[in-house]
Amino acid sequence: MGDESPVTDNQTEQSESITEVPGEHGESNSEESTSSQTTLDDSGSGISIMDELQSESVETVFENKDLVRPDTIIDEDRIVGRDEQLKTVITNLKPALQNHGIPEMLLTGPSGTGKSLIIHAVCKKIVELSEAQGMRFGVFSINCEGPGTTSRAVYRLIQEATANIDEEPGVPESGVSTDQKLERLWEIMREHYDGVIFVLDEVDMLDGPYSEPEYNSLLYQLSRARDLGRFDGPVSVTAITNYVDFMSDLNSRANSSFNPDEIFFEDYDATQLRHILRNREDAFKPEALADDVVPLVAAFGSQTHGDARKAIDLLRWSGELADKQGDERVEESHVRTAQDRYDSDRKLRHIGGLSTQKKLCIFAVAATDHYSNASVDWIPAGPSYSLYQFVCDTLGADSYGRETFVNHVTEQATYGILEFDRRGRGRGKGIHMHFDLAEDPESIMERILEDDRFANLEQEEEMMRSIAKSKMNGFLN
Ligand SMILES: Nc1ncnc2c1ncn2[C@@H]1O[C@H](COP(=O)(O)OP(=O)(O)OP(=O)(O)O)[C@@H](O)[C@H]1O
Ligand SMILES: [Mg+2]
Repeated sequence: MGDESPVTDNQTEQSESITEVPGEHGESNSEESTSSQTTLDDSGSGISIMDELQSESVETVFENKDLVRPDTIIDEDRIVGRDEQLKTVITNLKPALQNHGIPEMLLTGPSGTGKSLIIHAVCKKIVELSEAQGMRFGVFSINCEGPGTTSRAVYRLIQEATANIDEEPGVPESGVSTDQKLERLWEIMREHYDGVIFVLDEVDMLDGPYSEPEYNSLLYQLSRARDLGRFDGPVSVTAITNYVDFMSDLNSRANSSFNPDEIFFEDYDATQLRHILRNREDAFKPEALADDVVPLVAAFGSQTHGDARKAIDLLRWSGELADKQGDERVEESHVRTAQDRYDSDRKLRHIGGLSTQKKLCIFAVAATDHYSNASVDWIPAGPSYSLYQFVCDTLGADSYGRETFVNHVTEQATYGILEFDRRGRGRGKGIHMHFDLAEDPESIMERILEDDRFANLEQEEEMMRSIAKSKMNGFLN
């Protein structure tokens, strides 16, 4: 999650500039620079392979890009605005250092609010301190999005438990029961660890193939370890989820054994985001960040849900954009362009995920806009509906009535794909529904045509153009 870069994705044509000779920025395209490598100049020397290899091949605004990558675990002095959560987690885990029991925890809150960061930052210190005391504390952390079932999740925990010690998992990934895997896990823990914390990130994703979600059995099994006498030392489960109501979804068995201290992580406001970003400014070279960049990134970030990951991503994308354009300094304009690209990328991804019928409806509006070539800002529903009927016909899909068509289209306004408005066509000609797409119609059509079921439409360009033109002319005159 989170590392999609609209800057790099949409800019493939620019990646060629890496092969350019430094100092010739903007003058040569890659073809010319390739030929310059094979042509000797007047002195007969050609280019110096050594100089080329030793020169700094790509100019960059970054000094330490890791600081603005989403998965880097940052030092504690860079953590901002989570004092309360940090204190609670520390208070809860501290007894482990005296070999006392530790409570279970449930960290909830929206994306990018520091849940994973805080638990890992504290666990890292616990491991360091216990090592200094001659104790071995294990943090077995898995993301529950991958495994799918309790059995596979337990296997991942075994892999975590054996990753840094001289020990084999000792059970196969499949072909043995979950109980056998659990027994093996307890055995490894007894032999190699004095205390253990299981971190189950995105726990709600472990829903499994059955009607009763699998996280119930995983939480039930792991949280009983101490009660069943499987492990003597401090042991506890920390589950992490975006769902504030997660506990009310648990079945009664899981509910009776997993009794966590719930810790809530709220969204960041613009001031907190600004602090978070300021603490990472050394990701960039000195002077490579214009003064207004961080406040602008923070402002965009707080508008879109106060997610620190998004804000950090936007800062990195802005830097990548400056690099690609050969600029030495990240300016406000880079931030705005990166944000625009991100928005447009997000909207197109949303369109790609719509149901077939909704795609058909949006396609018809985009195609009417594109093919009619009319100089109007707003596309009337009538001509779009005619094109929708043609498209359905061509693809052998059911075509719905005009009201459903309009509802499907207007629904997309909630996602920022378009605006809609009822407007007059001129005196006495009545009020009609109109649409205004927020994205370029061709990009929308391209995204929808990526769906194989729409492939036949590529051959119908001329027909669509003629319908769009004639219906639009009919409507306007
Ligand atoms: N308080 C903070 N101070 C500094 N950096 C932060 C803070 N909170 C989050 N970050 C950074 O933001 C990014 C996202 O944080 P994190 O992964 O902890 O979010 P999360 O709450 O676990 O989100 P999700 O629910 O999507 O997994 C990370 O790069 C993290 O370092
Ligand atoms: Mg997380």
